Amino acid sequence: MQRFFDLCPEQETPFLLMDRAALQSRVEDFLVHAKDCGVFYAVKANSDPQVVQLVANAGMGFEISSTAELNLLLGQGVDPKKIITSNPIKTPGFIEKMYQHGGRQFVFDSVTEAEKIAKLAPGSDVVVRLTVENLESSWPLTDKFGVGPEEAATLLLQSRDLGLNPAGVTFHVGSQCEGVLSWHAALERAADVWRQVAEGGVNLKLLNIGGGFPAHHGVNVPSVEAIYDIVFKRVAELFPADIVLEAEPGRALVADSGALVGSVVGKAGRDGENWLYLDVGVFNGLMESVGNIPYIFTPLEKNGSETVKWVVAGPSCDSFDVVAKDIALPDMAVGDKVLITPGGAYTTAYASTFNGVRIPSVVLA
Ligand SMILES: Cc1ncc(COP(=O)(O)O)c(C=O)c1O
Repeated sequence: MQRFFDLCPEQETPFLLMDRAALQSRVEDFLVHAKDCGVFYAVKANSDPQVVQLVANAGMGFEISSTAELNLLLGQGVDPKKIITSNPIKTPGFIEKMYQHGGRQFVFDSVTEAEKIAKLAPGSDVVVRLTVENLESSWPLTDKFGVGPEEAATLLLQSRDLGLNPAGVTFHVGSQCEGVLSWHAALERAADVWRQVAEGGVNLKLLNIGGGFPAHHGVNVPSVEAIYDIVFKRVAELFPADIVLEAEPGRALVADSGALVGSVVGKAGRDGENWLYLDVGVFNGLMESVGNIPYIFTPLEKNGSETVKWVVAGPSCDSFDVVAKDIALPDMAVGDKVLITPGGAYTTAYASTFNGVRIPSVVLA
């Protein structure tokens, strides 16, 4: 940890330190284990231009949701052929711009979206978003999108009547999915759609397994290799041999190579609790803490001292800005630095300047 921080000790906090070598090796690891499965980095996890450039240079593709993300990638010189979108509900302007740049694959889960795609991106391949259980994930993504197998098959078959090309199925097992059974169950559900659509006279070709690969939030999680092994084995059992596979990792690609570095800005004792206030909190980087994503807090200059339990909070004048409870740290002083890991995913990407607090700068070193 100290070595990590030694890369840029003079940087003003808060900042997000991305370890270039660790990120590079993670990206390469993903590409090796993915074999023939296309890998599209979900830019939403960390859209810092330096991160995007490193991922692009490694030859990986990108998954995006908005015109702004498309503009970012085009500005970085990313080949539009390497960009897909799996957002089931898109603005009309985004569909148009993807189509202008050669995008011919769109995800949908409603007739309204199919009609929009048919009008703005005629003749495109369409991929239906299937609901799957999110039981093993810390950040479930079930409610907002997706339809069950029967409706998924019906939508795909209906899309033909709109001049679209029913191409496949996508799902998301939920972010930070810490068990492999979720992928097993999701693949079986996707195979069910496949069968129903085949009965309607259409052969699908594309299976997009989404994201969900976990980072190391202080717990043991299945490796990328283990997840791909399970997926490939089950896909070989359930789907035709010529299937096209895609994955869209976000969190697992960038989380573990990043650490937020914050400073103590205040301390207080309240009703017997020790409160520690940092210059990074819920609104400017640690938003996922409100969904119980756990972070590891490591003091940078206080190794070995006795610890006490702290409630850790952010710098804004808002009571929602409480990051974690029962965090063991030594007695801290204003100005002491704390490393918060894993910090590379869904931190700066979510951050706002609410209350005038600064969004952490990103240093790739
Ligand atoms: C469509 C889609 N693909 C991929 C991802 C990335 O997921 P994760 O960061 O869990 O890998 C998300 C996350 O919300 C998503 O919505």
